[in-house]
Amino acid sequence: MAMRDAQARVTRLRDYRAPDFLIDRTELHFDLRPGETLVRATLALRANPGHPVRARELRLHGEGLQLRELALDGRALAPAEYSYSDGELVIPDVPAVFELSSTVAIHPEANTSLEGLYQSRGLYCTQCEAEGFRKITFYLDRPDVLSEFTTTIEADQGAFPVLLSNGNPVAEGAAPGGRHWVTWHDPFQKPAYLFALVAGDLACMEDSFTTASGRNVALRIYVEPKDLDKLDHAMYSLKQAMAWDERRFGLEYDLDIFMIVAVDDFNMGAMENKGLNIFNTSCVLAHPETTTDLGFQRVEAVVAHEYFHNWSGNRVTCRDWFQLSLKEGFTVFRDSEFSADMGSRTIKRVEDVNLLRTAQFAEDAGPTAHPVQPDAYQEISNFYTVTIYEKGAEVVRMIHTLLGPDAFRRGCDLYFERHDGAAVTIEDFVAAMAEASGRDFSQFMGWYRQAGTPRVAVRGHYDAGAQTYRLDFTQSCPPTPECADKAPFQIPIRLGLVGRNGDLPLHVSGLAEGATDIVFELTESTQSLVFERVGEAPIPSLLRGFSAPVKLAFDYDRDELVQLLRRDSDGFNRWEAGNRLAVGILQELIADDLAGRPLALDARLVEAYRELLTDPALDPALVAHILTLPGEAYLSELAEIIEVEAIHRARQFARRELAQRLRPEFEALYTGNRSAESYRANAEQIARRSLHNLALAYLLQLEVPELIDRAWQQFDQADNMTDTNAALVSLLNNPAPQAQDHAREALGRYYARWQSESLVVNQWFQMQAWCVLPGGLERVRALLAHPAFDLRNPNKVRSVIGAFSAGNPVNFHRADGAGYAFLVEQVLTLDAMNPQIAARLLTPLTRWRKYPQARAGAMRAALEQVLVVPELSKDSFEIASKALR
Ligand code: TRP
Ligand code: ZN
Repeated sequence: MAMRDAQARVTRLRDYRAPDFLIDRTELHFDLRPGETLVRATLALRANPGHPVRARELRLHGEGLQLRELALDGRALAPAEYSYSDGELVIPDVPAVFELSSTVAIHPEANTSLEGLYQSRGLYCTQCEAEGFRKITFYLDRPDVLSEFTTTIEADQGAFPVLLSNGNPVAEGAAPGGRHWVTWHDPFQKPAYLFALVAGDLACMEDSFTTASGRNVALRIYVEPKDLDKLDHAMYSLKQAMAWDERRFGLEYDLDIFMIVAVDDFNMGAMENKGLNIFNTSCVLAHPETTTDLGFQRVEAVVAHEYFHNWSGNRVTCRDWFQLSLKEGFTVFRDSEFSADMGSRTIKRVEDVNLLRTAQFAEDAGPTAHPVQPDAYQEISNFYTVTIYEKGAEVVRMIHTLLGPDAFRRGCDLYFERHDGAAVTIEDFVAAMAEASGRDFSQFMGWYRQAGTPRVAVRGHYDAGAQTYRLDFTQSCPPTPECADKAPFQIPIRLGLVGRNGDLPLHVSGLAEGATDIVFELTESTQSLVFERVGEAPIPSLLRGFSAPVKLAFDYDRDELVQLLRRDSDGFNRWEAGNRLAVGILQELIADDLAGRPLALDARLVEAYRELLTDPALDPALVAHILTLPGEAYLSELAEIIEVEAIHRARQFARRELAQRLRPEFEALYTGNRSAESYRANAEQIARRSLHNLALAYLLQLEVPELIDRAWQQFDQADNMTDTNAALVSLLNNPAPQAQDHAREALGRYYARWQSESLVVNQWFQMQAWCVLPGGLERVRALLAHPAFDLRNPNKVRSVIGAFSAGNPVNFHRADGAGYAFLVEQVLTLDAMNPQIAARLLTPLTRWRKYPQARAGAMRAALEQVLVVPELSKDSFEIASKALR
């Protein structure tokens, strides 16, 4: 097939057909040898009894495999009896029930795509989701073919003492030449994407967990010996997650062993392979000296996420990859509820909504927008997106809001019971929810099938004479590539009314007396809601807890926002009021900057912040979040046209003004939140450190010698990575020569101390790649030439190239377009090695339509340069071509 046709081949949901053949049992034998690995597979196949006419032609997936032997029911097939091309092995005539055995040679040591079987720092490991198993052996590599796996691994005993696969070890022995083997059996049927193998010289932390029904489960986390001291937090998080899933969802673990293996080279965060999760080291290792608070929280969330997949993904899996959000959206909802219970619910919500509104809303507004249940894809790896994960989780959260916790739980129980061991669809999930609650979800399905972020505009009318308050709602949704005309969404809007002294009791027909909170369901294009007996003109608190992933427009004036910030009973909406206040003020500053007017900061922001800074009764974590000005990425998402420099200047101006006017308050906050206790990654300490370092970040907006010295002292004396990094970042971004001298010294010391800790070196790279001072591109080019940089390691690529292009807009978008040329150069080098990572790096360029003309043109030209490369991967081809369509 011609290159272009292969690149652009589309798979469509409506073309789904059940498989022609099933694989009841899969026996694998791996002979791991330097230079060549032999994989022998014996498959017990039979024609799918569900098909009225039995298929005779067998087609198996296979990519880059060297076929050595092929036999059907023990008889070797001659070359004329099969063909192998274009990623498919075709045997034209097979019986109804038969055994197929194949031997193939593969080359894990040369596999830089990190998909299939590959090596990471000498360790053999696999990544099969979504379609990597076909790079290991010939197979029906689709999630609706479930099989019972038995896997034997043979390797050199000295170099690879630990040999792991899914399930339980059932046999082991020695082999000639100093080799050994282990056989694993997984009693649970699973699709090939959940297969895993690991072979290496690994150390292991061992613990155990007793399930609610009294079974004992061995827990093992495998790492390189040097990392054994960084596993306490992952093990603790795992046990907490296991107990939580029993309490909250009634779900127990099902095998006798649960294993996690950490690898340094990994395309994503982690992978939920049955009984043998494989993790990016960045999502499992944690130690106060090397890991920030954010890192600790990430470990907790990802360990839980992968563990929760054992039910939402593994026991009940996806019929096809269009159902990806069935497992990912649901599992993100589950891990986010877990984190909310482990720390602060309001804070977790603020963090999730920040991610959704910056990354997912931007995706939804761009050329790669797709529904939570997409209807077509070229390369499925491109669909592991914030829409599938984060918007998918929001959709599950809305079901939870509409049903309430009890009916939601009944729906989950029904779903797991009815579909255990099966490969199902998003419709099956929603049907279980509908049945358990007696509710109709037909309109709700729009959330899965239509892309785009709905806009809800609200107006309020108070009638003092009649003592009524009316809210008028209007919804609309901009067009997206797959659909121009959207049907109205079913939008749950949790809301209340705030008066002078806080929440007012709500009097609406059908609502219990005394309630201060209501979930209003907006289903039409326009709809109204009337409250009775409203004694004063209220301020509506809308979309409490961010009850739906929409853009809400209400014409609040700044005094009303200040009142909500003070009085709203909903913690999320207090933060949201502060956020709206800051957004409005920043947008005004951006407009002034563009018009060449002098900038002046609205005193109401200063006063609102002062009040927050000095009220000891407030939740410190929430205060830290409110005092963090909306980021440049969010301001860009909100903008019609992204004026990179104006946004940056306006935000810097506001930060500096706040620092100047509130300097005594920030100084008090800084000293008041220093802590002498030894480090723990608990919510209370994390909140203190975030306030302390927020104060430092504000104070270092000023070029004041004693403040700069204070940052240096913090760097010099910190006993944890959160405080170390906060000090270094504030020095790096302060233009005063004194600060820059300290920053140089600090960078040198930091590297000298941590050069053998790969994850710390990544942070060292990232902080420099993010530095906003002029000359960013030159600094990043120098980082690429640093001996610790490695283009084959995705974490390094993300820390330097990804951090720069997605997290340093003023430098990446410099006017001469050199940032774009740089990115194209890196993407093209990377595309030949690791297409999944290359395609992801293109994301910032896909947003070209939102930039002013000159930059938009240069970004488009950069994408065109990618697209003309004849041997471009399917992954990058899909992203670049969609961005240009
Ligand atoms: N299923 C993984 C998760 O928990 C995602 C994942 C891990 C993945 N590695 C991958 C997806 C490689 C695609 C390619 O979210
Ligand atoms: Zn997942």
